Amino acid sequence: AFRIQVASTGDYYTVPPSRTVVQVLEENGIDIPVSCEQGVCGTCITRVLCGTPDHRDMYFTDEERDKNDQFTPCCSRAKTAELVLDL
Ligand code: FES
Repeated sequence: AFRIQVASTGDYYTVPPSRTVVQVLEENGIDIPVSCEQGVCGTCITRVLCGTPDHRDMYFTDEERDKNDQFTPCCSRAKTAELVLDL
C-alpha cells in the first residue's frame, strides 16, 4: 500500500494493493475522469507534485515517464511511500 495526498485539501488516502488511485479517490468524493482505465488513453492524467510514480501506462513516452511529474492514476501506482497529487 502507499499513501496519496490531495494537495488542495491536504487530505491523505491509503491505496491498498487491491484498489487503484482512481477508485480510492472516487470513494472519497473526488472524481477523476477516466475512459480506458488501462493506461492507454491518457484521459486520467494527473500531475504529481511529490513522490515517484510506478508508471504502468502505455501512453507516455519513456522520457515523459522519467520526469515523474505526471501519471495515469487509473492503473499506475507509487514507488515511494507517498505521492502528492495536484488535485
Ligand atoms: Fe485511460 Fe487512465 S483512463 S489512461
